[in-house]
Amino acid sequence: MNPPRIESSRRVLLGISGGIAAYKACELTRLLVKAGHQVQVVMTDAATRFVGPVTLQALSGREVALDNWHALRASGMDHIDLVREADAFVVAPASADLMARAACGMGDDLLSTLLLARDAVPTLLAPAMNRAMWAHPAVQRNAEQLRRDGVRLAGPGSGEQACGEVGDGRMLEPAQLLWEIEALWRAPVLRGRRVLITAGPTFEPWDAVRGLSNRSSGKMGWALARAAWEAGAEVVLVAGPTALQAPHGARTVAVETAVQMQQAVFAELDAQRCDVFIAAAAVADWRPRPAAQGKLKKQPGAAPPSPELELNPDILAEVAARPDAPYCVGFAAEAQDLLANAQAKRERKGVPLLVGNLGPQTFGRDDNACVLIDASGARELPRMDKLELARELVHEIASRLAGR
Ligand code: CTP
Repeated sequence: MNPPRIESSRRVLLGISGGIAAYKACELTRLLVKAGHQVQVVMTDAATRFVGPVTLQALSGREVALDNWHALRASGMDHIDLVREADAFVVAPASADLMARAACGMGDDLLSTLLLARDAVPTLLAPAMNRAMWAHPAVQRNAEQLRRDGVRLAGPGSGEQACGEVGDGRMLEPAQLLWEIEALWRAPVLRGRRVLITAGPTFEPWDAVRGLSNRSSGKMGWALARAAWEAGAEVVLVAGPTALQAPHGARTVAVETAVQMQQAVFAELDAQRCDVFIAAAAVADWRPRPAAQGKLKKQPGAAPPSPELELNPDILAEVAARPDAPYCVGFAAEAQDLLANAQAKRERKGVPLLVGNLGPQTFGRDDNACVLIDASGARELPRMDKLELARELVHEIASRLAGR
């Protein structure tokens, strides 16, 4: 069993303004609590028309703050205390009206007054409204003003809207907002950097229905994409077939075979400067020569066919050999003699940093233990959640880039 991931507990003040997306704030509250955070909800009067405060109270385990005149705190100073005790202030959904009031500094209800009193508390607004409302110059002006005032705007996303129209203005999904919120507490150590990551297995077809693959889940590459994005990098993820959804914040290029992965990686490197290449994919070393146009059929009485294999390109070694090679980080999935095998692999591939792990003890799990290997030696990292490990690696890479 994988242990559940518990982010170190933070206090989140979650403001909900009036909009149909208020129903998604219920799920966001649940996700925040599940991730180990404490959530204090504040609702505007309009928000209570969309979802009941009792629902939010039950999900957050705390009484919901509703107005300036019935304070939760004995001081009677909810409009100051609730935000000063928070590690992050999030408004989701942020309606056009709430944004307008915040942009011009009004304090005509508890939520807008808290936005005035937020001081240095990291603040994130998730706009949600009809596409024509979002495109209106007044809303765009307010959005720009809020950004200038140090507020981070998350989204809006694009797609089908509650009114039936299609366009920009959808609130980000709760899972995406959780990433945005947790990113508020990360240092932007890769800001301005471009990071290219390979992830997942590759699938090498033999005939129309069969092929060679491996047990990589893609979770480590996904965790690295998230950790690099949180650190401010522009992230491109070249991913083999996995069951995971494209990660928020990264551009994902889906591939199937090792040759497609190699072509996608080289296309990215040729198109734009890239600072870091992290090869987290479990690339199949061999591919079967195509056996037949369609499906290989059993022949009565005949011996079973065996695939004829040919070597796949070594993507990491080829990237590391380019004259314009980015800072290359490899992974070594070993089954035994981890240190010796991984050290030899680092030299063979010509990469400055290699993360060694035991494949059978990491594939499919949410956690991993590994050893970092560079020219000066090896350092063990204890077993930890893959996201925490990815964050450690991102810091390690950032400090090596800075010292380059
Ligand atoms: N890798 C790659 N292309 C390949 C094989 C591996 O880019 N064709 C990368 C992996 O993404 C990983 C590193 O090389 O970062 C090491 O992969 P691993 O599977 O551990 O090693 P192999 O090179 O396949 O060697 P072996 O299977 O003999 O251990």
